[in-house]
Amino acid sequence: MTHAKVVIIGAGGRLGAALMREYDDKFDITGFNHLQVDLESPDEMRKKLCAIDFGVLINAAAFTNVDLCETERDRAFRINTDAPRILAEICRDKKAKLIHFSTDYVFDGEKRQLYTESDPANPISVYGESKREGEKLVLQTHYQHLVVRVSWVFGPDRSSFIDAVMKRAREQEQVDAIEDKFATPTYTQDIAHALLQLLFNARATGILHFANSGECSWQEYAQWALDCCLSEGIALKTKSVGALKLADMKDWVARRPVYSVLSTAKYSALTGDSPRAWRDAVADYIKRFYSQK
Ligand SMILES: NC(=O)c1ccc[n+]([C@@H]2O[C@H](COP(=O)([O-])OP(=O)(O)OC[C@H]3O[C@@H](n4cnc5c(N)ncnc54)[C@H](OP(=O)(O)O)[C@@H]3O)[C@@H](O)[C@H]2O)c1
Repeated sequence: MTHAKVVIIGAGGRLGAALMREYDDKFDITGFNHLQVDLESPDEMRKKLCAIDFGVLINAAAFTNVDLCETERDRAFRINTDAPRILAEICRDKKAKLIHFSTDYVFDGEKRQLYTESDPANPISVYGESKREGEKLVLQTHYQHLVVRVSWVFGPDRSSFIDAVMKRAREQEQVDAIEDKFATPTYTQDIAHALLQLLFNARATGILHFANSGECSWQEYAQWALDCCLSEGIALKTKSVGALKLADMKDWVARRPVYSVLSTAKYSALTGDSPRAWRDAVADYIKRFYSQK
C-alpha cells in the first residue's frame, strides 16, 4: 500500500475512529475530530483543509441523532447537507476524491426487498432527508466522488445498540428489542477493510451500498449478541430477548424505515469481494472486545 495522503473528518466518531486505527499503518493519515474541524463552520473547514495536501478525504462525520434532527432541523441540514457540499468543492478544487458516508435511512422502507443503489430514495425523517440532500450535492459537485451508504453501524470506538443490549443483559432480568424492523448490522472494521478496495479505484464513484451480509430484526440482533456472550463465558442476568413492536416506541420523535436492508451486489461486482455474514461480524466483535476467556 502506498503512503498516500488521506484525511478523515469525524475522526472521533464510531466509524471515523475505526478508520483512523485501521489505516494508521497504511496511509499518511490526518484526522480531524469535531473540536478540530466544525462542520457548522464553512470558514474553518476551508481554512484548515485548503492548507493541507491530500488525495482522498473521507467524511465520517454527521449529525447522527435521528430524533434530535427532527427538532434541530437547521443544524441537521448544516451538518449533513451543506458541509458535505463544501467538502466536495474543496476536494474538487484540489483534484482529490471525496468518500462521503450516508445511510439506509434515505429509504422509506416500503419496498420490503433488498434496496439497490438505483432504487429511489424517499426519506421519512429529517435525518434521512438531510443525508439524502447531502448525497445529491456531493455527487453533483464532482463525478469522481463516492457516497457509501451503510446500516446499523457497530464497533469498539463508540457504544451502539449492541453494547447497550449487552450492558442491560448483564445488569437486568429483562431485555426487549423491536421485532418488526429489519436491516443489517455492519461492523466498522469490515467497512474499513471494504473501503480499502475503493479508495483509489477509479470505477468506485456515485452511490455504493455496503453492509455485512444477511438481515435481521433488532430482536434477532440482540438475541445473537446474547448467544455470543454465553458462548464466550460472559455472565448475563437474562439469556433471552423479549419482543417489542415498532409501534410501541412512543418516545421516538422521528419515523424510521421498517425495512432498509442494503443490496451489496454492486460492491461485489466492483471488488470481487463478498461482505461476511453479520452474525460472524458480531461474534468476532464480542470475542475480541468482551470475551473474558
Ligand atoms: N450509526 C449508525 O448506525 C449509522 C447507520 C447508517 C449510516 N451511518 C452513517 O455513518 C457515518 C458514521 O456514523 P457513526 O456511526 O460513526 O456516527 P457517530 O459515532 O455519531 O460519529 C459522528 C461523528 O461526527 C461528529 N460531528 C457531529 N457534528 C459535527 C460537526 N458539527 N462538526 C464536526 N464533526 C461533527 C461527531 O462528533 P461529536 O460526537 O464530538 O459531536 C462524531 O465524531 C455517518 O455518515 C452516519 O450518518 C451511521
